[in-house]
Amino acid sequence: MQKIQTYILSEEFSTVEVLKLYCSEFESLETVICSSCEDVYTKITSNNDKQLFIADLSENKSQKTDLISKIASNYSNCKILALSDNPSVNLIVEVMRLGAREFLPVPIIKDEFIESLNKILCENEEEKKKNKCKIISVFSNKGGIGKTSLATNLALEFAKITKENIALIDLNFQTGDITTFLDLKPSFNISYMLENIDKINETFLLSTLERYKRTSLYVLADPPYFKQADTIKPAQITKLFNTLKDTFSYIVVDVEASFDGKNIAALDNSDIILLVTVANLPALRNTQRCLELFEKLGYGKEKTKIVVNRYMENDEIKEEDVQKVLSRDVYWKVPNNYFAIMSAINKGIPVSEINTSTNVAQSYRELAKYMSDNLYKINMEERFDSILNINGENK
Ligand SMILES: Nc1ncnc2c1ncn2[C@@H]1O[C@H](COP(=O)(O)OP(=O)(O)O)[C@@H](O)[C@H]1O
Ligand SMILES: [Mg+2]
Repeated sequence: MQKIQTYILSEEFSTVEVLKLYCSEFESLETVICSSCEDVYTKITSNNDKQLFIADLSENKSQKTDLISKIASNYSNCKILALSDNPSVNLIVEVMRLGAREFLPVPIIKDEFIESLNKILCENEEEKKKNKCKIISVFSNKGGIGKTSLATNLALEFAKITKENIALIDLNFQTGDITTFLDLKPSFNISYMLENIDKINETFLLSTLERYKRTSLYVLADPPYFKQADTIKPAQITKLFNTLKDTFSYIVVDVEASFDGKNIAALDNSDIILLVTVANLPALRNTQRCLELFEKLGYGKEKTKIVVNRYMENDEIKEEDVQKVLSRDVYWKVPNNYFAIMSAINKGIPVSEINTSTNVAQSYRELAKYMSDNLYKINMEERFDSILNINGENK
């Protein structure tokens, strides 16, 4: 049997010895002790078979993270296990994002090492899916505020940044705009999905939801004909979301500007609600009322985030005023750019396709990056909770 070359890189002699010993329990592995990053790189680049790289980041961290990044993005035949005697959330997030499959603290505990290697060697796809799906609702209790623009562009940026499957759902049953914003003509819509929820699985979802161009963004549109939404039960919405959760990393929902049962069900099921407002008094009053209601519904500050749309630095009402009126921090500000937004809407394309460097396109992209980084961090904290507890002060 062809053995899997297992490259070990650590400056600590005892770590190398322990790794050699534990690896010897796996018949399929052949350990190769490496002397430097260059040494590892040369070996990995000249091997086309399945291989493994065990990288101890306790020393020369940045050099090794660069190496992990290069290997993970160019050599999918090489799986990476990262180690460190100082594992912080930031480090774990960084190396897992770069492409490491597992992370372990040094000193290495044998059972944990065996378990991690088993996971890596079994190529267990289920493990990869441990990143739990996050549901993000975009809401405002007033129309015309910029909900659909935000939901659509944010979802697309999530897809571009994470390359994972993203679902964008239009819950505006009679006034849905997403299909117009993205110029799509879907063959299946949310009404169909809700009626056939028991028959739906991953293959069905990925083949029937409308994919935006060649991205990993899938759209679940509103019905193309006038459809009464009041026949939809909140439980159906919950069930739909639960079904989508297995297939998608993020679900972005453009929620209708009203508090009916289906919308509240969507908000209830959300991890984060982006409450969109603009910096003028009537809109802020409405947002205030909305926050009061959210409090009654039990949605705390962790869940509801204020997004000020159409923000202008020279506005009469400034960010501080918005914070004062709402007694909340402003989570994000999307700049005012009527020209870019309108030409995107009129052409049926996202603002980034008009021009990636416009202030609105950048703002949506940075928001997606900020949110996905934070949500990924939470996932990593949950997944590596035991490691971080050992090193509690590193959080
Ligand atoms: N960042 C922005 N800058 C300038 N105008 C905007 C911006 N976002 C939205 N708009 C304007 O607001 C209108 C309503 O946006 P839309 O996303 O359809 O809001 P909603 O879904 O809340 O009704 C758009 O047609 C556009 O003219
Ligand atoms: Mg809308």
